[in-house]
Amino acid sequence: MSGVEIKQVAPSVRLGEGPHWVEEDQALLFVDIVEGDVHRLFLETGRHQVLHVEADESGSAVSLVIPVEGARDLFLVGLGRSLAVVRWAASDPDRHTVKAEVVLHTIDHHCPTNRFNDGKCDPRGRLWAGTMGFESTPGEPELFKGSLFRLGHDLQISHMLDKISIANGLAWSHDKKTFYYIDSCTYAVDAFDYDDSTGAISNRRKVIDYKAAGLQKDIPDGMCIDEKGNLWVANFYGKKVICIDPTAGKILRTVELPAHNITSVCWGGGPAYSTLFVTSSKIGLTEEQLAAEPAEGGTFAITGLGVRGVPPTNFKADLEMLRDKLAK
Ligand code: BGC
Ligand code: CA
Repeated sequence: MSGVEIKQVAPSVRLGEGPHWVEEDQALLFVDIVEGDVHRLFLETGRHQVLHVEADESGSAVSLVIPVEGARDLFLVGLGRSLAVVRWAASDPDRHTVKAEVVLHTIDHHCPTNRFNDGKCDPRGRLWAGTMGFESTPGEPELFKGSLFRLGHDLQISHMLDKISIANGLAWSHDKKTFYYIDSCTYAVDAFDYDDSTGAISNRRKVIDYKAAGLQKDIPDGMCIDEKGNLWVANFYGKKVICIDPTAGKILRTVELPAHNITSVCWGGGPAYSTLFVTSSKIGLTEEQLAAEPAEGGTFAITGLGVRGVPPTNFKADLEMLRDKLAK
């Protein structure tokens, strides 16, 4: 694949996740779930800010970070089993600790060791975020303990799916009729019919089964969609991202990376959205593996793929309702 270049753009972290491109800042957001940190990397200047978010009653794992549309400096985060809002300005110090301004919801009370994992906004700016059970070894959580939730513009939460093991990649087709979804422990990418106006999902089916496609040890993880409607999937334990044509259920391309445990992907890098950003994890790797491959846990920029992505959707809250909660 000539012309493809891979560059590590951020120092290694323990469990990198949740990459999200912020066009107005030309910045990449991502999290380190284990440390409870949100990272912001200004690509033009190289400035790197780290925001540590203090734990709430449900834990400190910061699993996703999405800007709140129309409210500069406010971000929606997954925090343990909670969805919360934090305030974070570019003028803040490069290393900084905050408490959540407001906790919107805490869920999964029956499974106190659950935590949020992946989350993304649908075309209308509603957040979809899912949980997973306690995980002592990567990829082997307590099974079927998690759920998928949807947070509406009115900040109300709806329970969308249960019996999820690791809630991971999410993407919506450009015609807004299909929702693609990954529960990593099914070793598959699934599709649902998606109703854009109500946000309902139905008719679950498989897009691709990893084992049947010859991927024996890879775990499907985070996912994003390109301008042609093909899916780019992070392969944990697979050292690669793959591009899937969801209509044919076929792998179109494979891009290898210098890290084993690839956790998520997003498009960004300027108005062209032709850079694929990739996060990774070094949890569970041995000292020898880490010494052999210093890029484990790194965040990478892949350029030269010859394909563009699409801008991410930010969280579209009813700002009056949100300000009301922030004022309390
Ligand atoms: C989770 C990890 C998990 C991995 C397995 C990631 O999205 O954050 O905790 O080990 O998925 O694929
Ligand atoms: Ca992930």
